[in-house]
Amino acid sequence: MPRLVVVSNRVGIPDGGTRAGGLEVAIRPALKRRGGVWFGWSGKITDEEPGKARTTLVENVSYVTVDMLRDDHEEFYNGFANRVLWPILHYRLDLAEFSRRDLGGYFRVNEYFARNLENLLRPDDVVWVHDYHLIPLARALRDRGHKNKIGFFIHIPCPPPEILTALPNHERLIPALGAYDVIGLQTETDAGNICRYFESECHVRRVEDGAFDFDGRHVRVGVFPVGVETEALARLARRAIETAFVREVLDSLSGRAMIIGVDRLDYSKGIPERLNAFESFLTHFPDWRGKVTYLQITPRSRTGIPEYADIGRVVGETAGRINGKFGEASWTPLRYINKAHSRTALAGLYRAARVGLVTPLRDGMNLVAKEYVAAQNADDPGVLILSRFAGAAQECVAALLVNPYDPEAVGAAINRALGMPLAERRERHAHNFRVLVKNDLTHWAERFLSALEGRPAPAPVQYVPRVASGH
Ligand code: F6P
Repeated sequence: MPRLVVVSNRVGIPDGGTRAGGLEVAIRPALKRRGGVWFGWSGKITDEEPGKARTTLVENVSYVTVDMLRDDHEEFYNGFANRVLWPILHYRLDLAEFSRRDLGGYFRVNEYFARNLENLLRPDDVVWVHDYHLIPLARALRDRGHKNKIGFFIHIPCPPPEILTALPNHERLIPALGAYDVIGLQTETDAGNICRYFESECHVRRVEDGAFDFDGRHVRVGVFPVGVETEALARLARRAIETAFVREVLDSLSGRAMIIGVDRLDYSKGIPERLNAFESFLTHFPDWRGKVTYLQITPRSRTGIPEYADIGRVVGETAGRINGKFGEASWTPLRYINKAHSRTALAGLYRAARVGLVTPLRDGMNLVAKEYVAAQNADDPGVLILSRFAGAAQECVAALLVNPYDPEAVGAAINRALGMPLAERRERHAHNFRVLVKNDLTHWAERFLSALEGRPAPAPVQYVPRVASGH
């Protein structure tokens, strides 16, 4: 089997102190199963010309990382990737701040990655590139003569061409996707959007096998919803709920039901809207006051970007207002914390929570939703309340699906979830769990890599609609 080379901006070296969030959760197990190379940024910013790439071998995976010049990091990561692409791909044109300088930095870092990969790549390596930081990477590799199979997976949403075309210089950037062999997206909607862009803006035609013809190169677009290690997580959660940490949290609730939210501090996650929904819940369903505690775990993220400082302020103020308004000397309705928690701690907390509140305004997939389902006790499961605008809503159809822009409706869903009879909770959980076992992380990686390597792919995930009781 050819060697697998994964490329992403962040690299999750085990115990290396680096952090890659949802992407790390997805890639590391997939890569470990097959072995290979994971290439990307070391997480270090330097003021001097970066030295050579460093390699760390852990079991069957070589982690190869490079440092980044301060200006490059500013223009590439804080600039174009996270102040332009991130908001636009999350349908937030109002937050995009385009500058030509940042676009230059974005292309420069992609060239820098390509240059470093040049020393690493063997002719028959299969290359799997991840996320919006690296759209032009395959183009840069092709320009250097690499003929490898190169796939691209975009973890975040892809909006329709009506939004994509508002991106200044989109004509230079998006068509560069034509240098990949396979482009993977999270949902049918995302895939439909990029196909429409290719047809209307790149004027490329679909060929027989459903691929697009970019100057003789066939580029396939496919839907590969990323999963979690469902069964392993279920096992972890069973153990984790017995740990001293989770026991302590449970004791501190004094028998109250717990609602949990876990998100990076990011405007796409809809945290202020969610807090408003909790406020609406306490206002309209006063019987629950004093009987429920909402734990919102929100590690800070992308702190060099002003919009992230703004959202931090808004969330902090809203949390304070709600606790001031409803709190008692003996009861704090909302616990808002910015500390990151280990995978084990989260698994235990998910299992202990009666309600998982996952209400992003827009999200490529949202693995917290899937982890919450995986962690439940099937005999007495909690209820997932999930934004219809998260990719996970395509699979977790038995969650209570909500519109995150409607605080009253989300508040009513919280009331419904807390009062839901056991039989309905079990039925909803069993449905979601079955889907997530079928479409777990192994299945996701296997389907993508089969498509890229031209092997017969495992059957695609079937979205089984729920017959009973609707939303
Ligand atoms: O969801 C998109 C994503 O880039 C993930 O791949 C990553 O885990 C997360 O955002 C965190 O982003 P950052 O690397 O900017 O902290």
